[in-house]
Formats: sequence, structure tokens, C-alpha cells
Amino acid sequence: MSRSLVVGSFENGEDILSAARAARVAGLTIVDTYTPYAVHGLDTAMGLAPSRLSWVCLVAGLTGAILKLWFEWWTAVVDWPVNVGGKPDNSLPAFVPITFEVMVLFAGLATVGALFAVARLWPGRRRPALVPRTTDDRFALVIEQTSAEETTARVRALFEEHRAVAVTEHVDEGRTCGRGQTAMKALNVVLALALLAAIGANAALDRDPAVPARDYLPEMAYSLAAESYAADPAFGSGGVLQVPPDGTIARGASPLHYLATPADALRAGLELSAPPIDQQALRRGATLFQTFCAICHGDTGVGNGPVVARGFPPPVSLLAPHARDMKDGQIFHVLTYGQLNMPPYASQIDAVDRWRIVAYVRQLQGSQQP
Ligand code: HEC
Repeated sequence: MSRSLVVGSFENGEDILSAARAARVAGLTIVDTYTPYAVHGLDTAMGLAPSRLSWVCLVAGLTGAILKLWFEWWTAVVDWPVNVGGKPDNSLPAFVPITFEVMVLFAGLATVGALFAVARLWPGRRRPALVPRTTDDRFALVIEQTSAEETTARVRALFEEHRAVAVTEHVDEGRTCGRGQTAMKALNVVLALALLAAIGANAALDRDPAVPARDYLPEMAYSLAAESYAADPAFGSGGVLQVPPDGTIARGASPLHYLATPADALRAGLELSAPPIDQQALRRGATLFQTFCAICHGDTGVGNGPVVARGFPPPVSLLAPHARDMKDGQIFHVLTYGQLNMPPYASQIDAVDRWRIVAYVRQLQGSQQP
């Protein structure tokens, strides 16, 4: 069905507004308006009913929310209840975020879909612009001539009264479908069929839950594990465990630049000073002394620990003047590097704890003072 159209082009929004109002008063049929941007009040001037898209949005949103709530309840309570920290299976607050998301998803997709359907838009569809400059700086009002009495001259007069800059006549042949559009239509049909086929196949193929799914890129899911002490030709050292490069320092460690010699013990006494120790740290020092030192030095430090009774050469008394006169840093050096018969303790007691033991040795010496 063809219809003849008269199109008036205007230079600004006010002109097309007044022209549209006048056209309605004159009883003309407004087909549509084309504007470079939304002109406020044009919808009422054209006599358009309020948009029904918001109803689509509301209904779709509610549908999505209700469906999702039901689905959450069904999965969590009926199909696969999992005890999460003793919480009840039917926990509404836990369902709220995803319910909201699905509500928005449904509402958004349905609104856009409804808009496209109402506007008859789909991929590949082309509507030639009656006035190409409406995408730039022109405002076009399209009037349909419904009866013979509505002569073009009358419409032209109305347009010119409202400062139309151009008036043109068109014949709308109804829907036209060029070669490109036919190809696009075919493509749409193929895509729709492919979607249907995929949905159908998904429903038709029954999966046995006992059979594990096929793994793509299994190296990602199951990475190789190696035993620490196993051989590994991939490394130059021939083993999995790698020796840290020379000079490597453990994270958080502060290196001590001393040798296990009496001279360096004296130097440590001059250079190192004990960090401040509180009561709690001192109690920790006492515990560590009982654990590591009392076996040789005895509970009070006089050098009568259990191993001495079994023939180990008795250590010097920690309460003797020699030990009393030692500087804190020197005792720290003895604990770190050992001294003659006494083994080093650096690998068993960290630096912070060694200082706590030093503080406890100091306390022992003080408490035993006559
Ligand atoms: C295996 C037994 C043994 C253990 C355990 C041991 N020591 Fe000793 N310690 C000795 C011996 C033996 C000496 C004397 C070394 C020497 O002849 O200079 C000594 C010497 C010392 C000295 C130097 C005393 C001085 O006057 O030269 C201090 C300080 C000391 N020990 C503190 C400790 C502390 C603190 C611990 C616990 C972390 C500890 N020792 C654990 C055997 C031990």
C-alpha cells in the first residue's frame, strides 16, 4: 500500500513544535517527526499516548525477580541443600543480591527488545531518511494525505506559516526490501535456526552425571606436582629443590656481619644493643630458656642441668662474674654462633626470641645477686 507524504523541514525545535500543534488543530494526520535531538513537548504536540515501555519494564522486572527467587529457593532447599555454616537453607537475605541482578537483567533486555519490536528494528533493517539533515541540524514533520480534500497546497501553506525552510513530497511504497536487506534477512533466519538447533540439542542430549565432562586444556586444570627432593633434569642442579643464590637473605631477616670467633663476640658486645623488652617478652624468654638452655645450664643458670649429670662437661655458670660482665650483644653472639662446647642456636631460635632470652639471663643474674 502506498501513501503520499508531505514533509516540512524546519530550522529549530520551536518551529516544528508550533507546526505540529497547528497540524493537529487542522485535523491533519501526523505520520512522524524526525529531529536531531529530543524536542521537549513534541510528543504531546503530536498527540502521542504515553509510552507503554515502562509497563513492559515493570512486568519483565517482576517476572525476573519472582523466577529467580523461586529458582534460588528450589536449588538451595529442594534440589541441592548445602549446609553453609549452619545457616538455614532458605535464607532470603542471601537470595536478595542475585534476585536484584536478574530483575534488572530481565527488565533491561525486555525493554530494549520491546522497543525494537515496536519500532520494527532488527539487524540489517534500513529506513532511508526522508530528510538526511535530520541527523544534523534539521527538524522534519511528516504529514500523510488521507483524503483528496487535503490538498498539498493546504499543507504547504501550513508549513510555510510556521517558517518551514523546505517542503517536499514523497510516495511511501510501504516496506521495501533491497538486495542487501534480503541477504540480512536470510542471515537472521539462519542465526535464529542455529539458536533453535542449539537449544533443541541441549534439551535432547541426555548427559550421564556419572561420566566426567570432557576436559579442554587439561594442563590448566591439573598442573604437574613435583616432590621437593625428586630429581628433575629440567634444572641445572638436577633436582626440584633449588639452592638459593649466594647472598640470599630470608624475608624479614636482618643479617649479622660477624664470624663465630671470640674476637667477633667481643665486637658484637660493643656494637649490638638489646631492644626494649616488656614483661610479656621476658616471660617468653623464660619459657625459651627452660626449653633450650636449662638442659645444660640448669634452671637457675649455675650449670647443673640434667645432661651434666650424664657426663656432659659442665658449662660455666651464667651467674659467675665472667658471664655477668659480658655485654648483652656478646651473649647474643654466643646464642647465635655458639661458643666451644655450646652449639649455635640461630637456626632454632629467631633473633627476636634470642634477645628475649638474653633479657631473661640478665634477670637470672640479677635475682641471684647476693
Ligand atoms: C649443650 C649444652 C648447652 C646448651 C643447651 C646451652 N649452653 Fe650455653 N654454654 C654451654 C657450655 C658448655 C658453655 C661454655 C662454653 C665455653 O667453654 O666457653 C656455655 C656458655 C654459655 C655462655 C657464655 C658464658 C661465659 O661466661 O662465657 C652463655 C651466655 C650461655 N652459654 C648461654 C646459653 C643460653 C642462653 C642457652 C640457651 C639458648 C644456652 N647457653 C644453651 C653449654 C650449653
